[in-house]
Amino acid sequence: MAVQEKSGVRRAVCPGSFDPITNGHLDIIERASRLYDVVYVAVLINKSKSGLFTVEERIQMIEEVSAPYGNVVVESHHGLLVDYCKDRDIPAIVKGLRAVSDFDYELQMAQMNIGLSGVETLFVPTSPTYSFLSSSLVKEVAAYGGDVSHLVPELVHRRLVARIAERK
Ligand code: PNS
Repeated sequence: MAVQEKSGVRRAVCPGSFDPITNGHLDIIERASRLYDVVYVAVLINKSKSGLFTVEERIQMIEEVSAPYGNVVVESHHGLLVDYCKDRDIPAIVKGLRAVSDFDYELQMAQMNIGLSGVETLFVPTSPTYSFLSSSLVKEVAAYGGDVSHLVPELVHRRLVARIAERK
């Protein structure tokens, strides 16, 4: 019997770097929160990448913007995503697919993850409004003074502008 059938609680994880969370990420988290009882947002720590925001800052921003959904738990994880899933009895990874260009790598990761542990990956088509959006592009445009206020939640925008000003 599958884990979620035993416990009766349907769990999924939305993983990512979230440096910072964008409206595209939030759209996927919101949609996952309507499909599952508990949605874990896992901020994966990549020690070889130095972020604009610390992992703690990313978690705090995600917690604030996802609070209205009422069933989102935000945590960090260092290591394999499948180990995170195993520790919490999470049978499904939910990922947004922006375009065909995302597909090759996402398919590789999905196949690796199911092969490693049996965790399924479900792809959700990104809303067309956000299909071009990434945290990297948002940071680049904001660093050169471009307006990204429509691409990230308001509190993220405030912190992004402040962080860029600090770094100048
Ligand atoms: O937001 P990103 O950087 O595109 O997210 C990629 C992420 C963090 C989801 C992916 O790199 C990942 O799952 N990392 C955790 C380490 C891991 O499990 N690697 C094997 C993937 S098959």
